[in-house]
Amino acid sequence: MRSKIVSIGSYLPEKIMRNLDLEKIVDTSDEWIVKRTGIKERHISDKPTSYLAYMAAKKAIEGVINPEEIDAIIVATVTPDKILPATALFVQSQLKAKNAFCFDINAACSGFLYALSVGDSYIRSNTAKNVLVIGAEVLSKFVDWTDRSTCVIFGDGAAAVLLQPSNDESGILDIVLHSDGDYTDLMQIPAGGSLSPCSKEAIDNHDIYIKMLGNQTFKMSVQSIVAVSEEALNRSNLSFNDIDLMVSHQANIRIIEGVAKRIHFPMEKVQIALDIHGNTAAASIPLALDLAYSQGKIKKNDKILLNSFGASLTWGACVVVW
Ligand code: ACO
Repeated sequence: MRSKIVSIGSYLPEKIMRNLDLEKIVDTSDEWIVKRTGIKERHISDKPTSYLAYMAAKKAIEGVINPEEIDAIIVATVTPDKILPATALFVQSQLKAKNAFCFDINAACSGFLYALSVGDSYIRSNTAKNVLVIGAEVLSKFVDWTDRSTCVIFGDGAAAVLLQPSNDESGILDIVLHSDGDYTDLMQIPAGGSLSPCSKEAIDNHDIYIKMLGNQTFKMSVQSIVAVSEEALNRSNLSFNDIDLMVSHQANIRIIEGVAKRIHFPMEKVQIALDIHGNTAAASIPLALDLAYSQGKIKKNDKILLNSFGASLTWGACVVVW
């Protein structure tokens, strides 16, 4: 039996950083950021990723199930609380979901779709009945605040969906995922892992922060998103004309508009959240989905296309009937 998203919840930290605030930190301008990315502001957290994930999860299950009924918690993140243990375990503890098994997934900006496919598989195989899939990031703690090419892009936030077995035609129709490990240098945190453990030299070189070759990443994004979306739609016997809403990873407005233009898809049916969220990596798609839901843009039986492209490199697409 396929799975369906029965509820959704999100959490954004209170503190908002606007482009004008960034002008005071690095050599940039509101005009450049808006024109080149579409981003106007982003939320910044002083709390760890697990707290944001917990707050989003709490909202997602409120009035639907009790925490003890959750069978699995999957957190997609590239900004875990610690390298060990998984952030999902900190979420479990705060949520008091003592019967859940919990782990993290790292697939950068595609992390939510990867986690969704795992959660969907647990439901389809009857391994679990209530799966919480969370995208959560506190990227601001991994950003080099002296590097204007990255610090203006990212934001913090979390969103969670509860998956249950579908008892009708609604639910996740298909998810297609891809990776290419030949491009791992396009976006990385060079130090802090087993390849290059954290050292004074790494700290001095700012190698403990995100480094991104944005322009090269950008060039591959549109074509990959279009191709993987076509693949997911073909497997679902649907076309772009059947889609009521497209929710893409919110990296750059020029990427999203490029995709829409390439497939002749009207921008009125494209959800935009990056102007107020920035790029929140694994949290971006569920945050945008929750925004669309709260804005009344999603109706029962709507067909929604989710797609993503992220470091380094991962991409994917998912077709959902709401
Ligand atoms: N303010 C002003 N100027 C800037 C800034 C800034 N914040 N950042 C860069 N510039 C300058 C550069 O120095 C460069 O100047 P130069 O021409 O004098 O050398 C110029 O602007 C152009 O730089 P580009 O890097 O070519 O700028 P681009 O138009 O490509 O925009 C951006 C950069 C926004 C990063 C874009 O490339 C992008 O969105 N890339 C995709 C990012 C992405 O999708 N990443 C993967 C997902 S994230 C994840 O997986 C976690």
